[in-house]
Amino acid sequence: MKNLMLIRLLIVVALGLLFVQCTSDPIPGPPGADGMDGIDGIDGVDGADGIASCVSCHSDATRDIVDASFELSAHGSGFVFGFTGPREDCTFCHSNLGHQDFVAFGEVDPGSLSSNSPITCATCHDSHDTFDFENDGIDYALRSIEPVALELDPNTVIDFGGTSNNCTLCHQPRDSYVIPAEDGTGKYVVATTRFGPHHGPQSTMLEGIMGANIAGSVGYPGVASATHRTGASCVSCHMGESTDVSEGLHSWNVTEASCVACHTNGIPSELAGFTEDMAILKQLLTEVVGEEYEEDSEGNPVFDMEGNPVGTGVPVVGLIIDFPDGSDTDRSNEGIFTTAEAQAAWNYMTLLEDQSRGTHNPAYSRALLTNSIEALQN
Ligand code: HEC
Ligand code: HEC
Ligand code: HEC
Ligand code: HEC
Ligand code: HEC
Ligand code: HEC
Repeated sequence: MKNLMLIRLLIVVALGLLFVQCTSDPIPGPPGADGMDGIDGIDGVDGADGIASCVSCHSDATRDIVDASFELSAHGSGFVFGFTGPREDCTFCHSNLGHQDFVAFGEVDPGSLSSNSPITCATCHDSHDTFDFENDGIDYALRSIEPVALELDPNTVIDFGGTSNNCTLCHQPRDSYVIPAEDGTGKYVVATTRFGPHHGPQSTMLEGIMGANIAGSVGYPGVASATHRTGASCVSCHMGESTDVSEGLHSWNVTEASCVACHTNGIPSELAGFTEDMAILKQLLTEVVGEEYEEDSEGNPVFDMEGNPVGTGVPVVGLIIDFPDGSDTDRSNEGIFTTAEAQAAWNYMTLLEDQSRGTHNPAYSRALLTNSIEALQN
């Protein structure tokens, strides 16, 4: 009897299992009613006021400081080049609307330049890409902080990884002359009285590129390896915090405060020996003797079948010169020079135009300077 009970019980259990299997058929039932809302959690503790609060940048107090320092800056007192006439290419960097066109379209629309002005706030700033500063980073409402493909060689891109990318847009050599390099002829034709990179090779110098890397006793440091690039930036040195509107901020004058963290034993005012060595290099460049080139009907240099420039036999004394009438300095003579002479001249002008006395990239400047001097002395 007990066994029978047990068998019945087992049958019930077995049927139950069958039932379970039937109901496990994958037809979903209707969704259940929503549960009740939970109880509100406890408010979190307020965080410290971050830079990301709107008023930290958008207050009259902040604005007054920015305006006062901007007024003292070279940007704030700049002027428009190529405002009228054919020099749209100058307005890329030397005007407000020209720069806006350049950033947006990569070229300047001459029609948009009639109401142009020098550099102003809107040249660099427009609107925020994001208000989620915590996750997306602070963009300072800058028109562009993207990496920059260079004018002189669009295949070379500089990325300082922050707001300093804004500087590279303008502080790079203008597309002008080919950087001298050995091409098999051993010669380079300087067909301008303004040889060298146009004003502003600061970004390329900080990166450690676009000198003429002439061989010599000092090795060239790795690209982008300078401590001033990896541990500092255009913005950290030139736009540092300050209580004096003529330093840092929007004056773009360097602050000593931005140097002392690293230069604890005093801040060097230039790369050691820079002024002396530049004078030596300049002297050598004024003594270089080249040759006048044959000109075609349009005044351009003539080359033979092998690509060698054709000279007239008339010597040209000096590659870099000061005009004898004192009207200008550090200009170039037109003529055929050796590649090494042209490289040394390119490097001299690069170091001069950089305007930091070797500070932007001490090791790269040292190599360019020493190796150029050696090349002319040999
Ligand atoms: C780190 C500094 C900074 C912070 C923080 C900041 N902004 Fe800005 N913002 C700027 C700058 C710089 C500009 C462009 C120059 C200007 O107009 O002041 C700008 C421009 C703007 C503009 C466009 C102005 C115009 O005239 O078109 C708006 C809108 C704006 N910000 C709103 C905000 C709001 C809202 C917040 C907070 C969520 C905020 N910003 C936080 C720096 C900042
Ligand atoms: C729109 C182009 C443009 C941008 C962007 C720009 N600059 Fe300039 N900068 C110039 C021009 C052009 C001058 C020369 C003054 C003039 O003629 O307007 C100049 C001058 C300067 C000077 C003073 C040079 C002197 O001889 O006294 C400093 C320093 C400077 N810029 C640093 C910076 C830094 C740092 C940045 C990035 C935050 C920057 N600039 C972004 C175009 C620009
Ligand atoms: C790619 C950007 C760029 C272009 C294009 C450009 N410049 Fe400049 N220029 C600069 C910068 C940046 C400076 C300031 C940097 C410095 O002083 O080292 C400057 C400085 C100058 C200066 C010296 C100004 C001073 O205050 O001492 C002159 C002159 C000048 N440029 C003329 C021109 C002319 C003319 C053109 C067109 C043929 C032109 N530039 C095109 C970026 C540019
Ligand atoms: C040559 C480019 C340039 C010009 C011109 C310029 N700014 Fe800026 N501005 C910057 C850059 C770059 C930063 C971000 C600096 C940083 O990363 O710390 C900045 C930061 C700011 C900030 C936030 C940080 C601060 O200094 O309080 C404000 C506000 C601002 N700019 C307003 C202005 C106003 C207003 C003008 C015109 C009077 C102006 N800017 C002109 C490049 C420029
Ligand atoms: C390690 C700090 C440092 C960094 C990084 C730096 N600079 Fe400079 N820069 C200097 C010093 C120092 C000078 C020389 C200033 C002087 O002679 O009064 C200078 C000079 C200049 C000048 C010449 C005008 C002047 O004020 O005499 C320009 C333009 C300039 N820097 C732009 C830039 C740009 C653009 C960048 C980024 C590509 C940059 N700098 C990065 C420290 C720095
Ligand atoms: C992140 C650290 C750091 C900061 C910030 C910094 N420097 Fe330097 N600086 C160095 C280091 C490291 C060297 C030597 C190595 C080299 O050549 O890069 C150096 C080298 C130099 C040199 C070359 C000295 C020589 O004769 O070889 C000069 C000039 C210089 N710094 C000036 C400055 C000035 C001016 C500032 C501030 C505007 C500054 N530095 C900010 C780290 C820094």
